[in-house]
Amino acid sequence: PLLQRLYHERVVDHYNHPRNVGSFEKDDPSLGTGLVGAPACGDVMKLQVKFDEQSGKIVDACFKTFGCGSAIASSSLATEWVKGKQMEEALSIKNSEIAKHLSLPPVKLHCSMLAEDAIKAAVKDYKAKRAKQGTSTGNID
Ligand code: FES
Ligand code: FES
Repeated sequence: PLLQRLYHERVVDHYNHPRNVGSFEKDDPSLGTGLVGAPACGDVMKLQVKFDEQSGKIVDACFKTFGCGSAIASSSLATEWVKGKQMEEALSIKNSEIAKHLSLPPVKLHCSMLAEDAIKAAVKDYKAKRAKQGTSTGNID
């Protein structure tokens, strides 16, 4: 089928069986929400990460993406990759790694960029929340 010819099986798999679709309760203080849009196409991605305060690790993640299959696959993969990672590790995830894993064609690179941006935005939101509460752990900034 056309889908299989144009896209790597991993993209099709994530598109057909997206991991961690959904939303967490926005007011949860252990949660960061990233909402980003791609100027190139107007697609929108929301990605949320939940931190464990003790270990500093991301224990859960979810996404909702209004966009193309590559953006859905990229965000699905991103939620899998961030789980179990420390903040700095999560921030070091590059869109090029996502694109490579999914064998995205060049015109779809911005879709993986959206996922990288969404991770960064989610972490930033979490940090901002913590700072507001005055409970920053101090070893982060
Ligand atoms: Fe067409 Fe995103 S605008 S796939
Ligand atoms: Fe715009 Fe995929 S085409 S995010």
